[in-house]
Amino acid sequence: MAKKKKAVRKKKRTSPGSGQSSVRSAAASGSMDGRTAIYPGSFDPITKGHVDIIRRACQVFGNVTVAVAYNPNKDAAMFSPEERVEMIYDALPDLEGQVVVDCFTGLLVDYARRIEAGVIVRGLRAVSDFEYEFQMTMMNRHLRPNVETVFLMAGEQHFYTSSRLVKEVATFGGDVTSFVPPEVLDRFHRRLERPRET
Ligand code: PNS
Repeated sequence: MAKKKKAVRKKKRTSPGSGQSSVRSAAASGSMDGRTAIYPGSFDPITKGHVDIIRRACQVFGNVTVAVAYNPNKDAAMFSPEERVEMIYDALPDLEGQVVVDCFTGLLVDYARRIEAGVIVRGLRAVSDFEYEFQMTMMNRHLRPNVETVFLMAGEQHFYTSSRLVKEVATFGGDVTSFVPPEVLDRFHRRLERPRET
C-alpha cells in the first residue's frame, strides 16, 4: 500500500501542473463528463477544515483533484509546492483512489482547461468568506463561463480555522493540534523550528 502511494507521488512530481495524472484518474473512475472537480487553494499547510471539504467533495463528485497554487517568482509560502502536495496526500491516506493532488501556477481556469475540469470546489466557513469567494467566482466565470464554482460548507468545528491563523498561532507557541491533521503536525512543527530556505 505504502509503495503504491510513493509511486503516485513520484509521477505527480515529474510534471506538476500538467494535469496528466488527474485526467487519467478521472477517466478511470468514469467522471470524464466535464464535471471533474478541482479543489484549488494555497494549502500552506493543509488544515482539518480543508480535509473536511475534500471529504465532502469526494462524496458529491466521486473524486477530486486538489490543486495547490504557487507562484514561482515570489512564493512566500511556508512550504514548497511539493511539500504541500505531500502533506495533502499524508492527510488523506484512506482517499488515495479518489483524490489526486497536483500543483499549478498561472490562472486557475487555464489549469482547469488543461485537466478538463468543469467544476471548481471552494469551501465556505463564515459569512466573511463570501465577498472574496464571490469576486473570485465572478472573475473565473468571466474568464471561462463554462466552469461552474460550487461551494461546500465546512463542518461548524472548522468555521474559524484558516492556514494563516494556524501559522500565526503556532509561530507564537500556541497549540494548533485541533486544527492541523495529525499526519502533518510533526512536519509543521519542524518547519517552525527551521524555516524554509528560499
Ligand atoms: O487558499 P486560497 O488562498 O483561498 O486560494 C486562492 C486560490 C489559490 C484559489 C486563488 O488565489 C487562485 O485561483 N489563484 C490562481 C491564480 C488565479 O487564477 N487568479 C484569479 C482568481 S479570480
